Amino acid sequence: MKILSKNGDEILLLAVTNDFANKGDYFIIEDIIANKKLLVQFYDEEYFSSSTLIDEIIKDEVISKFSSENIFDPLEINNLSQIIRDVRIFKTKIRGSINEMNQLSTDVDWVPSRVNSNIVKIGLKEINSLLNKSMKYPISLGKCGANNEEFEIFAEDLDGKLNIITGKKETGKSHLSKILMKSLVQYGAYVIIFDLNNEYSGLSCNLDGKPSFISKKLFLLNPGKELKFNLTYFGKPSISNMLRNALDMPSASLREFFRIWDSLENKKVLCIPELGKAFGSWTINELVRDALLSRFHIINSSRLFSTTNSVNEKGFRFEDIIKGNPKGAALIINMSRISPVVRRMIVELVMNKLIELLEGSVIPPVFIFAEEAQLYIRDTYWEDLITRMRHFGIYSTFITNQPDAINDTIYRQVDNIFLFNFTNDADLEKISKVSLLDSSTIKSLVKTLSHRNCLAIGKAVSNLPMVVKVNSVDMMTLGETKKFFK
Ligand SMILES: Nc1ncnc2c1ncn2[C@@H]1O[C@H](COP(=O)(O)OP(=O)(O)OP(=O)(O)O)[C@@H](O)[C@H]1O
Ligand SMILES: [Mg+2]
Repeated sequence: MKILSKNGDEILLLAVTNDFANKGDYFIIEDIIANKKLLVQFYDEEYFSSSTLIDEIIKDEVISKFSSENIFDPLEINNLSQIIRDVRIFKTKIRGSINEMNQLSTDVDWVPSRVNSNIVKIGLKEINSLLNKSMKYPISLGKCGANNEEFEIFAEDLDGKLNIITGKKETGKSHLSKILMKSLVQYGAYVIIFDLNNEYSGLSCNLDGKPSFISKKLFLLNPGKELKFNLTYFGKPSISNMLRNALDMPSASLREFFRIWDSLENKKVLCIPELGKAFGSWTINELVRDALLSRFHIINSSRLFSTTNSVNEKGFRFEDIIKGNPKGAALIINMSRISPVVRRMIVELVMNKLIELLEGSVIPPVFIFAEEAQLYIRDTYWEDLITRMRHFGIYSTFITNQPDAINDTIYRQVDNIFLFNFTNDADLEKISKVSLLDSSTIKSLVKTLSHRNCLAIGKAVSNLPMVVKVNSVDMMTLGETKKFFK
């Protein structure tokens, strides 16, 4: 292999007959004279085409159609010209340079020699030795490269980070997120999952039906049952955010709401039935009363709050579960059978409460997995929340098949992206515009990714994008589409 040309961070390599690479493979270009090395990633290939070559191919084809004579070719020129026609160009991107100490750095201020360069393909082992990561909590994601080398990332690289898992329908997004979540819990982290298809609870069982090793750490929270709060658990700010953002309460009504709230709180009778009574009986503008009552009915029918009069009843509390499980826990909030309004209310309440608990250092940092994030993060106020979340100690992973539903400001803060297949050009365009990687690599790699393969980008892979065949899990993953024809 030889270097053909360099343009910006792109290097074109000349590949002859038996040179072969899979998309995503890494090569080292070693300049022997200068004793320097460059790490490049192969992302696409095409035929070498010059107009004379094409003319020749056409001429040959035409001649072979109309003449059946044997051409006398003692010097085997024909053979040579066939080989030239099969010459391909490997398009690669520079990912870094390697110094004498075998360390990777991103500053590449030199050009390798076209004549005196050796080009060799390298595997995961060599890449890992370049990165020399010394972390303690590996997460095995799958296999990598033609030799099926075991690929792992580290839980430390998800800690304090914002991640996005995206790809088209049924490509294995939730499956990957289950792998991540399972490992985090295994290592003692606290994970909260907004589960829209009720698929995460399956992780409590192995494939043979026996309890899995994390079964004791999984808590399925069904709204109205396990997830039932006492109204007093939430402060005014949380409830006001819920009313404003999830229930579109106008500010005039919000003010009245809090006058009533304060008065009930002072009398120490703050609870759902008393609120309902007060909304009906207080002297307020009729329009405001209507607004209050309509919201009250939604809140009441959501069954998220206990309706007993007892102020002492505890209700669900995040800190209780976390204290009771010092070795980590996963709280799976089952949002599969509830209306979009209640879904938004839950997300709002949970996020606000978590922030409050984290600010008071009542609980340690938590990881959030937001499935089908497009259904509830479209609203703009999430940007603000996400910008600050990392400082509170909320580390989110968004899982969605609509990359355009996530706002650009969120993409700018993202640390890791796990990209599954996308064929739709608009989606590809969107993701390549905002992600951490150049758009030509993304477009070329992602378009041809097969099912269950993903492209990992970002800190978790030390900014060296990797194509990974995601492992299967030996637990029930329940993600299947329900079918009529079995
Ligand atoms: N690496 C894998 N090994 C084995 N099975 C897998 C793998 N990835 C996905 N699956 C299976 O494929 C199916 C679809 O996967 P999954 O539910 O994760 O897709 P998805 O991208 O989340 O789909 P949706 O867009 O519908 O949410 C599931 O039944 C899952 O168990
Ligand atoms: Mg899914």
